[in-house]
Amino acid sequence: RPAERPYVIEQMISAKAIAARVEGLAREITAHYHDSDRLIVVGLLRGSFMFIADLVREIDLPVEVDFLEASSYGNAAQSSKEVRILKDLRGEIAGRDVLVVEDIVDSGFTISHVKRLLLSRNPRRLEVCALLDKPSRREVDIRATWTGFEIPDEFVVGYGLDFAQRNRNLPYIGKVRFLD
Ligand code: PRP
Ligand code: MN
Ligand code: MG
Repeated sequence: RPAERPYVIEQMISAKAIAARVEGLAREITAHYHDSDRLIVVGLLRGSFMFIADLVREIDLPVEVDFLEASSYGNAAQSSKEVRILKDLRGEIAGRDVLVVEDIVDSGFTISHVKRLLLSRNPRRLEVCALLDKPSRREVDIRATWTGFEIPDEFVVGYGLDFAQRNRNLPYIGKVRFLD
């Protein structure tokens, strides 16, 4: 079990830097959707819970919030399969403007599956806002509409991201460094 190996977490992006970037993203998102009264912001559980909570507080529009939990695949051979939903949206999205909020785009499998699933429900528009992007690990050709930070290939935790389910509660983004 990886979390039982001794490790320390070194700060990579401070809470203050995250807050400043979230404010900037929210300003761009508010401008983009300023004439929409049909925006629904969808958080992907569990990693996005902290980011979406901060982001929606800075979006100056009467948005709706919903959540989706999808199983992720680690394997390219399965990438064309329908994403398995562990917790589906509560609301309908047909004809709506949908903004999917994700903590990190790594291989890209999770967000591409979720996009395909939600597009099959015929939203008016679908965009993605990801706090972190690790382009060096990409296996699927996909990009978020808005990205907070591009990061190198480090194991990152905190601000919603877990290491073996731990450390999601950190108010900053850190990288895991093993001591053994
Ligand atoms: C993590 C992360 C993203 C996804 C990114 O989720 O939160 O959703 O992996 O990886 P990918 O681009 O390679 O698909 P995870 O499956 O760990 O679930 P969690 O959000 O509940 O931690
Ligand atoms: Mn996730
Ligand atoms: Mg995880």
